[in-house]
Amino acid sequence: MSRLELIDESILAIPEYVPGKSVEETAQKYGLDPDSIIKLGSNENPLGPSKKAIQAIVENASKVHLYPSADAGELVDALSTYLGIPASNICAAGPGMDGLLDNLIRLIIRDGDEVIIPIPTFSYYEIAARANGASVVYVKRNENFGVDIEAIQKAVSSRTKMIFLCSPNNPSGNIVPEIDIRALLDSFEGILFVDEAYVEFAEHSIKNLVLEFDNLVVGRTFSKIFGLAGLRLGYGIMPAWLKLEYMKVATPFNVSLPALKAGIAAISDKAHIEKSIEMVKEGRKYLQEQIPFRVYESMANFVLVDVSPYNASDVCEILLRKGIIVRDCGSFRGAGNSLIRVTVGTQEQNMRVVEAFRCV
Ligand SMILES: Cc1ncc(COP(=O)(O)O)c(C=O)c1O
Repeated sequence: MSRLELIDESILAIPEYVPGKSVEETAQKYGLDPDSIIKLGSNENPLGPSKKAIQAIVENASKVHLYPSADAGELVDALSTYLGIPASNICAAGPGMDGLLDNLIRLIIRDGDEVIIPIPTFSYYEIAARANGASVVYVKRNENFGVDIEAIQKAVSSRTKMIFLCSPNNPSGNIVPEIDIRALLDSFEGILFVDEAYVEFAEHSIKNLVLEFDNLVVGRTFSKIFGLAGLRLGYGIMPAWLKLEYMKVATPFNVSLPALKAGIAAISDKAHIEKSIEMVKEGRKYLQEQIPFRVYESMANFVLVDVSPYNASDVCEILLRKGIIVRDCGSFRGAGNSLIRVTVGTQEQNMRVVEAFRCV
């Protein structure tokens, strides 16, 4: 018997998660100096973490022989103040928002359930749902990546347990209007998950709807604006009834002590948050105006570039040789083969990106 027979066919059929390329692998493959490479393929914060967060990590390094609090209560309390939402509606999560998704989907989904995912979008919803036995119903977004709410409503069946909306959407950068989210919440009996990984760059959040609707979960992360991707910290805003059930199945101690302390420090550093938002707003306008291809309007810290008639993989290769890592969206289901996602960098980095696109 092949050992693979131990794994169910439904799992073997799941496509692998494709991460953005790393500096190390790019340096090695193209014979480049790692210091000359700019990494704009994973939507990280090029300004790095807040100094306050670094200090909190250092100060707590000597305490990592102790387990952190099981429910990350101090961080939840700090988030409650930061968001203006009761602590009974907030769960801290690790590793990252991916951990939140994993715990939540494991709680909600049973074999044979369905979930609906408008595509193209972030791929981990599909992976986590399928890993837990769900069948996925994909609904194609329109040509500007808008979500067709009526098409989603039509796709709902008696087996539909969850719908995933990403706002701003990765990789397109557009948001789902609140009116559409309300319409969906009104008509859907299952859980609507709204991923707000990039919301700080968008100036509009639907987080307060959690206090109005008892079937909405909003996912957030410290990986983007807070520059803490390496710590793997996220959180969910959800109805109090669901938090109680979520906490029963969540992996114990899933937020590490350094992550917990750094998270509290990061949300207190308003200057770092504002500087990061300013940089992104200016940078995405510059990229939008200067990249000599179609660039979609974005509310996130990245822009989506359509390099037609060229192939995204060929253009990414040209940029990689120049030491610029961007994201070929070929692995995003339904994205086609001409889309490239570029994280907004510092002005110096953005200028290098524009220059490289001009050479295509
Ligand atoms: C839309 C979206 N949601 C969630 C995540 C995962 O976030 P985390 O790093 O907190 O797991 C990402 C990461 O790129 C993302 O783009």
